[in-house]
Formats: sequence, C-alpha cells, structure tokens
Amino acid sequence: MPRKALVTGGASGIGLACARRLMADGLEVAIVDLRPDHLAGIAGDVTSIHELDVVDGPAVNRLVAELEPIDVLVNSAGVTGPNVPVWEMDDEGWARTIAVNLTGTFNTMRAVLPGMRERGWGRIVNIASIAGKEGNPNLGAYSASKAGVIGLTKSVGKEAATDGVIVNAVAPAVIATPILEGVGQATIDYMVSKIPMGRLGQSEEVAALVSWLASDEVSFSTGHTYDISGGRATY
Ligand SMILES: NC(=O)c1ccc[n+]([C@@H]2O[C@H](COP(=O)([O-])OP(=O)(O)OC[C@H]3O[C@@H](n4cnc5c(N)ncnc54)[C@H](O)[C@@H]3O)[C@@H](O)[C@H]2O)c1
Repeated sequence: MPRKALVTGGASGIGLACARRLMADGLEVAIVDLRPDHLAGIAGDVTSIHELDVVDGPAVNRLVAELEPIDVLVNSAGVTGPNVPVWEMDDEGWARTIAVNLTGTFNTMRAVLPGMRERGWGRIVNIASIAGKEGNPNLGAYSASKAGVIGLTKSVGKEAATDGVIVNAVAPAVIATPILEGVGQATIDYMVSKIPMGRLGQSEEVAALVSWLASDEVSFSTGHTYDISGGRATY
C-alpha cells in the first residue's frame, strides 16, 4: 500500500511542487485548497483535489475522516496578508492572516494526529518562513503567524515524540511563486537583498527538503525548523 499524503495549499507554488514531488516519491496525494482551480490544466497530476478553507475546523475534520489513513501532512496553505506597517493594519487583514497560516495549520494537525499516533507512523511538515524567525518589515501579521507555526511545531514535535510521529517545519526565504503577486516590489527586493546567494529560491528546492522530512530517512529529528534560505538564516 502506498503511503497517503495530504497537502494543503497544494494547487499552487510550494504546495503544488510538494504534491508532485511526493507523487514522484511513490505516495498517493490529496490536495486541499481554497481555490483548486489554481491547478488549471495540470489537475491530472494529482490523485484527488478538495476545495476547502483550512480555517473551517469542522470541515477539515470531516475531510480527514473521509481520506484516512493519512500518513503525511504538508501544511502549505498560506497568505501574505497586509503589506503595510502595523500602524496601518486593519483588524480583518490581521485576523485572516493568523487564521489561515496559524489556525489552519493547527486544524489539520489536530485532525490527522490521532490516526497517525494510533498507527504509530506519521510525518508532518509545516511550511513556515524566515519571516517567522526574523520578522519582515511591512509583513507583521505574516511574520507573527509564521513565528506561531514555528512554536506550534516545537510543541507538537515534543508531544508526539514517542509515537512514531515526526513533526518539523521548513523556513524558506523568498521563493518564486504566485504568492509574491500580493507583495510589493520593494518588499521583494528587500528580501532578495538579504539572501547571500542573491536569488529567489524555487519551489522544487523546497519540495526536495519536504520530501526528506516526509520520509523514513528522517528518524531522529522532530520539532525543528529547517532552513531553506540561500544562506539568509543565521540560526
Ligand atoms: N513564496 C515564498 O516566498 C514563501 C516564503 C516562505 C514561506 N512561504 C509559505 O509557503 C506556503 C506556500 O506559499 P506559496 O508561495 O506556494 O503561495 P501560493 O499562493 O502559490 O500558494 C498558496 C496556496 O494556498 C491556498 N490557500 C490560501 N488560503 C487558503 C485557505 N484558507 N485554505 C486552503 N487553501 C488556501 C491558495 O489558494 C494557494 O493555492 C505559504 O504558507 C507561504 O506562507 C512562501
């Protein structure tokens, strides 16, 4: 039986690259996305696609129950949120960013963990961000949500440490995906200028790291956030 993966935000960018990579690794892949139509023209690449807002906890629970057993969860659904300083941020932009990036990650983890623990094997990979470690200016809600993902990953990694369930995060610097359409050029230039390799990363480079974190090869590492930042991260 092939292992089964659930990839949130899998219709685009990093999530799509992860879905493709996990399929190439031999897993069955189900994609959850608010807008699976993002997949236009390439839907045949994946086994099943579900339209779902990850913020809707009960709907996430129902979908997971339908798809079980889920062996691998990749949380890639995310939004950049308001690209403004905190003193200009509205309530709605703040709340939605935290809801999608942090609460969405919590919802899916909470839904899959009982099954993974019962079966004694599971891998969870949360797509955090270098912004969660360093804080990017004019991306306050985003940076706070990703810092939350890093903290949550640390907690759950410890909680499930003796259950055969390994929980890690990755922290990419700026990666060339459609999410950048919501970010101003000045912010992108700022982010690239901080990368010693002097370029944007590619989704496939992130997917290669996720592939390892979703496999049997990772066996003595949990609760950690792995760097994929072209040398930007210093810790
Ligand atoms: N691209 C970067 O520079 C970068 C850097 C660091 C971290 N990340 C993180 O990587 C993840 C993927 O980003 P990406 O660059 O591939 O962006 P993307 O916009 O290409 O893909 C994000 C996907 O998430 C989906 N999504 C958004 N809200 C959702 C919701 N509520 N429920 C379900 N699906 C939802 C979107 O429809 C989209 O298909 C995000 O969590 C992002 O914060 C991206």
